[in-house]
Amino acid sequence: MLTSLSELPRRKASGPKLAVLTAYDYPTARMLDDAGVDLILVGDSLGMVVLGLPDTTGVTMDMMLHHTAAVCRGVKRAPVIADLPFASYRTPAEAVLNSKRLMDCGASAVKLEGGVSMIPQIRAIIAAGIPFVGHIGMLPQSVKEEGGYKKKGKTGEQIERLIADARALDEAGAVAMVLESIVPEVAMQITTLVKASTIGIGAGSGTDGQVLVTPDLLGSFPWFRPPFAKPRADVARETLRAVREYIAEVSV
Ligand code: KIV
Repeated sequence: MLTSLSELPRRKASGPKLAVLTAYDYPTARMLDDAGVDLILVGDSLGMVVLGLPDTTGVTMDMMLHHTAAVCRGVKRAPVIADLPFASYRTPAEAVLNSKRLMDCGASAVKLEGGVSMIPQIRAIIAAGIPFVGHIGMLPQSVKEEGGYKKKGKTGEQIERLIADARALDEAGAVAMVLESIVPEVAMQITTLVKASTIGIGAGSGTDGQVLVTPDLLGSFPWFRPPFAKPRADVARETLRAVREYIAEVSV
């Protein structure tokens, strides 16, 4: 069970693999921490699975600050990573300013989407003393430019770009990087190439850890579930049952 980001290199070298989940509120964060999850991510998936937005591009800094603070109030042990949302890191100065605001809420590290093209922002964040987690592969904040959510690493050109992105993040000093929706063999290759811990989602089992959007694990967002997510509870069904039972009891 991780207590500090400084333990990441040892975990990469000797295991066990990292179990990472998202949280957006105090009770969930507190339960994940108590259950022993290694890292807690306040992801901008917040926009879709909590706030009902169509994608993550509508998530603002104010939303991220509000939810990061709530999560951090619930966590005693696990390092908390907070996402920089869409358009909050357009310049290195903006990236540093907004990263500091998330750290002031109690986060242990910040994450943003992108590789080589984001290196000036990432270097500025790390130079400001803020631990940084990368995110490459399928980038949800780019869904509009990309015209959908597309798996990465299927062509030689994509593989070269992913490896260049991973190397750039590693050289800049990222402590970890999320590999999202990447062909498993490519995710495994990146994992062996970089010093940083790789945390996969929809990228096979060859990474240093796995992350899931917690409502996908708990079955509490039944309207969409990615194919790789294995639900281990049916919170939506149990909620409907309890609410219908209450209605039947009260409405006599
Ligand atoms: O926003 C999020 O929840 C994420 C995970 C999918 C890695 O970035």
